[in-house]
Parts: sequence; structure tokens; C-alpha cells
Amino acid sequence: MPLNIEDVRKQFPILQTQLYGRPLVYLDNAATTQKPVGVLNAMDEYYRNYNSNVHRGVHSLSQKATDAFELVRKKVQEFINAKHEHEVIFTRGTTESINLVASSFGKRFVNKGDSVIISAMEHHSNIVPWQLMAEERGAKLKVIPITNSGELDLSEFENLLDETVKLVSVTYVSNTLGTVNPVEKIIAAAHKQNIPVLLDSAQAVAHLEIDVQKLDADFIAFSSHKMFGPTGMGILYGKEKLLNEMPPYQGGGEMIKTVSLEKTTYNVLPFKFEAGTPSIAEVIGLGAAVDFINETGKQKIIQAEKNLIKYALEKLSEIDELTFIGTAKERAGSISFLVSTHHPFDIGELLDKQSVAVRTGNHCTEPIMSFFNIPGTVRASFSFYNTYEEVDKLSDALNKAIRILG
Ligand code: ALA
Repeated sequence: MPLNIEDVRKQFPILQTQLYGRPLVYLDNAATTQKPVGVLNAMDEYYRNYNSNVHRGVHSLSQKATDAFELVRKKVQEFINAKHEHEVIFTRGTTESINLVASSFGKRFVNKGDSVIISAMEHHSNIVPWQLMAEERGAKLKVIPITNSGELDLSEFENLLDETVKLVSVTYVSNTLGTVNPVEKIIAAAHKQNIPVLLDSAQAVAHLEIDVQKLDADFIAFSSHKMFGPTGMGILYGKEKLLNEMPPYQGGGEMIKTVSLEKTTYNVLPFKFEAGTPSIAEVIGLGAAVDFINETGKQKIIQAEKNLIKYALEKLSEIDELTFIGTAKERAGSISFLVSTHHPFDIGELLDKQSVAVRTGNHCTEPIMSFFNIPGTVRASFSFYNTYEEVDKLSDALNKAIRILG
């Protein structure tokens, strides 16, 4: 049975709200998704009834919090089909997950003259950590170029793979273009030369099934808030062998086994990478988000979204003044476009006044803007809880904006 989207929407309080006297049309899901009541309640329940620190107390509240917290690690392990629970590291978000790998993997495995491959469609969070690391280690970055359709040029990728490459770090789904990259091919080609691969899965996680064992990804990074959970919480999955070889990222708290003033020994995985008090309520909220996805059905979510994106692309194609930026065959989530020669901000403002929320600008992907030689795009990004009627409202609002701007 396909999903009843109206029933799904009832679980999201914010989707019942109004903006400028009209129902909110929320099409900024690539920036962050809305939260179902199960997530809100789980966090509320923690703060009201068993707020305490984890892994630190013998008292009942602390044990209850620890159990709830660690249960989420198990849920995430199952959600991404990781082999071991301790391969799931809790971080503050995708950005921190990538910084962790860049810093720690870099210290252990990257030396002068080595290189790391990224692509020209990366979010700044999957560019800058590598630039910082490369500068520190005397390494360089190599970049997979993109094509006019906003897809990766894989033939160029194969040329970049040489003995200097220590890691490939690419996005699974582009936050700006909506392109779904052929990550299976990228991983296979890199592994042929024993090069590990990190997938920035911030956008992929809500739109695709992620099975880390089937993908054979070495690292994946994603955020809770892009999959109906709270902000301030992210995940780094890493293969046990690699994580064990990498030094700690930050010092303090949970990552310690013993400390003396002369020497510290480090805790085992996953705690070695979890310094300080973690985002406990947020982890518990993420657990409820995983439950929500499982109860709704990931396959049903994926199918509903595919149909919606297809409809949105058809509907927006009817607007003569609109030019799509990114026309990849495989896509998910985001649709970027320009309207005539109007600045994306002007379009975004006029859509907002008609209660349609989209993101405008460079979407933290300036290299994509340079490639297309544009100042930014208007980006409508969808979740499965969006409706066909909302797509029509977007289209009507764009036509009105075009009439106003002339
Ligand atoms: N990375 C998020 C976006 O694309 C914030 O909007």
C-alpha cells in the first residue's frame, strides 16, 4: 500500500502552521527536515523524566539515559547495516564527522606529496577540512570535474587515481544539483588500488537506502537533522580496522581510558572518538527519527519521493522562463533553477511572501556556481511529506513572481 501522505503530515506539527495567512509550503528540506511528534516527544521525555549524563553514574537516571543513548547506536547500526555497533561514532554533525576523518586519518596516513580526491560538486564541508589537512600535511587535493548536466566526469576520475592518492571523499547526493553519484563505481575503482572512500551522505540519508556493507564504503558521514531528527548530532561510520588505526580527534571525557599527568591511554571504539558530554537528547531524538523512518517504511518513502520529484520536474518544465541547473539522470531531493535573469534572492523573497520556503544562493557549493558561472540558484528541495498540491503552489508562486518582476 502506498503511503497516505496526509496521515504522515499530521505527525509534523510545523506542517500544520501558516505563513502570511496561508499554509506553509516547506521546500527547504535539503537544509533541514521537519521533525515528527515522535522525535519531539522523545527529547521532551528525556529532559522531563531522566535527564542526566551518560556513561558516568551508577545512579538510576544515568543508567536509564545511558541505556537509551546506547540503544540508538544499535538502531543506527541496523539502519545503515554496519557490521559492528562500535563502528558508529556519534558526532555533532556531518561537518564534524568529515573534519574528524580529515584530521585523524590525515595524521595517520597522509604525508608530504600524497593526495586526496574530492569532486567539484562538494559542499564546502567536504572541501575545506581536506584543504586544512592538505596544508598541514604537505599534501594536495585532486578534483573530479563535473559535466554540464551536473554529473561527475568518471573518466577523469580514473585518471586521477594514482599511487599518491590516500583517500577519495565524495558526496553521495549533491545538495545543490540533486545528482545521485555512481558511488558503487567510485568505490570499486578506488578499492582496486586499495584506496579507501568516504561518502558525504548528508543528503543521501533521507532519500536512499544506505547499506554500508553492500556499498563497501570505508567511511560515511551524515546528520540527524536531515533525516527528521534534531540538529547538533551527526554520525560517522567507519570500518573498524581503519578507525582502530586512527588517533583520537579531540581529547577529554569519554575518549580516555587512564590519565596521568605524564601519559594518557585511550578508550576503545566508539568512545575513542567521543570526547566530552555528547548531545544526549539529540541522540535520543535521532533514535525516534530512525523509528519514524522504519515505521513509515524506507522503500515507501523513496518511492513517494521519486514520484514527487518526477512531477515537480514536469511541472517546472512548463515555465518557459525557468532554466534548470543540474539535469542529471539519477537524482534525489533538490531541484535547482534560475528564472530569466532575475537574481535568485528576488525570486526567493517573492516565493516567501507567498508562503513557499526555498533556499537561494550558493548553497555552500561555490565551486558549482563558478562552474556554471552563476551567482546562485533557487533551490526547491523535497521530502516525501511534500504534496503534489505544494508543487502546484510552487509553480503558481513562480509564475506570479515572474509577472511581478516582469
Ligand atoms: N547543507 C545544507 C544545505 O544544503 C545546509 O542547505
